[in-house]
Amino acid sequence: MVKAIQVGLGHWGFSWTKDVIPKVPNIHMVGYVDSNPEATKRVQSELGIEEKRLFNGLDEAAQAIEADLAICTLRTEAHYPVVKRCLELGFNVLVEKPFASTIAQAKELVALAKQQGRVLMVSQNYRFQPAPIAAAELIGAQKFGPVNLVSIEFRRHAPSQGYRYWDMPDPLLADMSIHHFDLMRMVLNDNAKRVSCRTWNPVGSPFGHHPIGVATIEFERGTIVSYRGSWMSSGPATPWAGEWTMDCSEGEIIWTSRDNFMGQSRPDRLSLRERDKELEPVELAPIELPDRTGTLGAIAKVIETGSIPARFSSGEDNIHSLALVQATILSASRSGEWVEIEEVMQ
Ligand SMILES: NC(=O)c1ccc[n+]([C@@H]2O[C@H](COP(=O)([O-])OP(=O)(O)OC[C@H]3O[C@@H](n4cnc5c(N)ncnc54)[C@H](O)[C@@H]3O)[C@@H](O)[C@H]2O)c1
Repeated sequence: MVKAIQVGLGHWGFSWTKDVIPKVPNIHMVGYVDSNPEATKRVQSELGIEEKRLFNGLDEAAQAIEADLAICTLRTEAHYPVVKRCLELGFNVLVEKPFASTIAQAKELVALAKQQGRVLMVSQNYRFQPAPIAAAELIGAQKFGPVNLVSIEFRRHAPSQGYRYWDMPDPLLADMSIHHFDLMRMVLNDNAKRVSCRTWNPVGSPFGHHPIGVATIEFERGTIVSYRGSWMSSGPATPWAGEWTMDCSEGEIIWTSRDNFMGQSRPDRLSLRERDKELEPVELAPIELPDRTGTLGAIAKVIETGSIPARFSSGEDNIHSLALVQATILSASRSGEWVEIEEVMQ
């Protein structure tokens, strides 16, 4: 059993407390922390958590209880100071995406985790779904040979879909595309080399910053990804992971994942089309702990066994996904000029 505390019980954090953490069998919760007393009170009144397990400060919690893991589900700006303190206090850490606000902060946290001998993982929950896992395996096995072109579409109409973060800087690239960038790296088993990106805010949009973006991303092994994302689309909404077409030399791998929205839910889908043949759906095996239960289950296992599984999104690995966010933002600020990943890594 891994004894855990959760830090950050806000909108998304409360959903972790209620819907995610109780489903992971080897986690034993010993404390809940939020600087806002309303948030801790809610956990007590709605979920019946005992008062002695609730804290309004991390240090106060660390003095009162013993835990192996801190599950950090706070707003991005709070990730760096809170994760840093958790590591200093000797906890292993699972932190929500995006890992940190800058690459320098992320590197510092990775170094601190190493120094403290602790596991630091970023909860890239989209990795724990049947379709991207199957796609990664098919690409790894060269099912249709080398990948020639990857096309990804993400479409949502935020104004009519209960969206809340109108003033967030980079609502597409930093908050949403991080999932797609991270999946590109996982499925291709490769890192990006350079990017060119344009973003914009359409007339009449309620967003304070740019909700639409188009990027071309070149990977180390030469694969080119064409990415189009929009929070202001009038087209049919895509599943959260977007719609992927991976055009390989002998055929296409077409998939989508996390098709749940507005009370409706459909399973992941993946199809294969050998060149000049019909599209063939592939049956996907369900995974035992999907999505956020998967990230939490994975770090619990690493803490218990010490062995790191394939596709584990450690802090160190995640710096490369964060670099894609920073590089696309930088390129967009330079009107789409090519930006080398190396530039943002330094
Ligand atoms: N993976 C996904 O699919 C997904 C979806 C939605 C949100 N998220 C991520 O979840 C995170 C949290 O988002 P949210 O909407 O719950 O934010 P929020 O603002 O609703 O909640 C943040 C909570 O953290 C608390 N807090 C802030 N600083 C603190 C500190 N130093 N110590 C203790 N508590 C502190 C606040 O009081 C608040 O209750 C974000 O990083 C967001 O990107 C991920």
